[in-house]
Amino acid sequence: RTADGQAAAPIIFAHRGASGTRPENTMVAFRRAVELGATGIETDVQLSADGQPVLIHDETLSRTAGASGWVGDKTWAELQSLDAGGWYHPEFMGERIPHLDELLELVRQTGLIVNLELKNTVRAYEGLEATVIEAVRRHGVERQTLISSFNHYSLALCKQLAPDIRTGILYMEGLYRPWEYAKTIGADALHAYDPAVRAEWVQGARAAGVDYHPFTVNDEGRLRELIEMGTAGIITDHPDRVVRLLSQRRP
Ligand code: G3P
Ligand code: MG
Repeated sequence: RTADGQAAAPIIFAHRGASGTRPENTMVAFRRAVELGATGIETDVQLSADGQPVLIHDETLSRTAGASGWVGDKTWAELQSLDAGGWYHPEFMGERIPHLDELLELVRQTGLIVNLELKNTVRAYEGLEATVIEAVRRHGVERQTLISSFNHYSLALCKQLAPDIRTGILYMEGLYRPWEYAKTIGADALHAYDPAVRAEWVQGARAAGVDYHPFTVNDEGRLRELIEMGTAGIITDHPDRVVRLLSQRRP
């Protein structure tokens, strides 16, 4: 909290970029997030068949890339030939599935926090952790990076490989004193499905030195409540809403 008792401003993580108004997980969505005042970006990382880290949410291509089959069965060159924007609106035709390097370059330039969600619960993607950590180090953005996953074995491995890079536990609901669980795998943050988050849990986590980052919150009333609870970050499709609510707070 600040000296006057107000909760510190949360990190505003644009979920899949500014996905409320741009095609998710594209460079246009990430750049829009920066323009709207996001202070962080959340994205989903998978591996192409030839081991390149790519940013796409679904394990299959049909919804956002207009092709059949699995992301992990296509080479980087094949993925590059797909259109990742036209499904959202014709205006965005020609957007590509980004390589992790493209986003990390933006992160380095802007100083934003990046929340890299490893999408490795459906497919294991052997080597994903080491690949992502190598890229983060090559771009020199270790201090701006948070690695999250629903696969907590993967987070434990990340901590082993890179103790200096923060990790966040993704989970749906109902964990008892999740900040204690977080400590068992060296995690720094809790990424909880929002409707499950209660103020006393946020306080319990804070007292234990663990950050709460609820997902995915777009309703203004709920955003206001979370800001008041003092969550360390909020994952939202509409970063501009959080920016506006924060600016409306009494000084
Ligand atoms: O990181 C929060 C959120 O992105 C997790 O769910 O399915 O949107 O990747 P999903
Ligand atoms: Mg995600």
